[in-house]
Amino acid sequence: MTEQTPSPAPLRLYGRRKGKPLRPRHQHLMQDFLPQVSVTLDDLAEPQKIFSHHPSTVMFEIGFGAGDHLAQLAHDMPNAGFLGAEPFMNGVASLLKKMDDQALTNIRIFAGDARMVLEALPPQSLDAVFLLFPDPWPKNRHANRRFIGPDNLNRLARAMKSGAELRMASDVPPLATWMQKHTLADDRFAPHAGTESGQWPHRPAHWPTTRYEQKNLAKHPPAWLSFYRR
Ligand SMILES: C[S@@+](CC[C@H](N)C(=O)[O-])C[C@H]1O[C@@H](n2cnc3c(N)ncnc32)[C@H](O)[C@@H]1O
Repeated sequence: MTEQTPSPAPLRLYGRRKGKPLRPRHQHLMQDFLPQVSVTLDDLAEPQKIFSHHPSTVMFEIGFGAGDHLAQLAHDMPNAGFLGAEPFMNGVASLLKKMDDQALTNIRIFAGDARMVLEALPPQSLDAVFLLFPDPWPKNRHANRRFIGPDNLNRLARAMKSGAELRMASDVPPLATWMQKHTLADDRFAPHAGTESGQWPHRPAHWPTTRYEQKNLAKHPPAWLSFYRR
């Protein structure tokens, strides 16, 4: 795949699509609310138009889990548009609940694989991408399943605007090193200002936390990484 020519090959997905049965309210939101805020790959040809306020800034979260980070950012930045991809249906239901409770109107959901979203978007359409605690693949023999690698860096580089932030975190040291090494080796991305590694010395205050991060914080302090699309 080149930067201009995304691969049409079918994408294999890693991770669960379903967990424990949804509570009645979650079921109701999946049935009635999700169709109002979900997007198809065809819709993504014009990303501003998937939002009713046609924002000039569009940010994308890959694997938003329960949607803690995405919902907080959407609340804090009502003029921006937030797109999230998550194939795990219980996570989608949790984000829908937050959107409903807080009347958040600036989030759109693709309930599937983020790689398909990156391929469907026009070039240079994203102002930021968030990839937080993405992988359960610490073993070397599963390294090719990790999200960050040459194929997805190509997809990201194509879809991100010049100057867009790629925000990443991991609490598994070999995975954090892997994400950092691959992104540093790609000259389309630069580490955030003042660093050679892209790593923050401590938790950036402007990053909303997630339940996943909180759960593991005591055991495994994460690495927080920022890179910018040149
Ligand atoms: C460990 S969880 C972290 C969730 C969230 N980012 C957080 O910090 O709370 C990783 C998530 O990535 C999702 N995921 C895995 N592969 C994905 C893909 N190709 N596209 C979108 N989401 C993906 C999983 O379903 C899972 O919910």
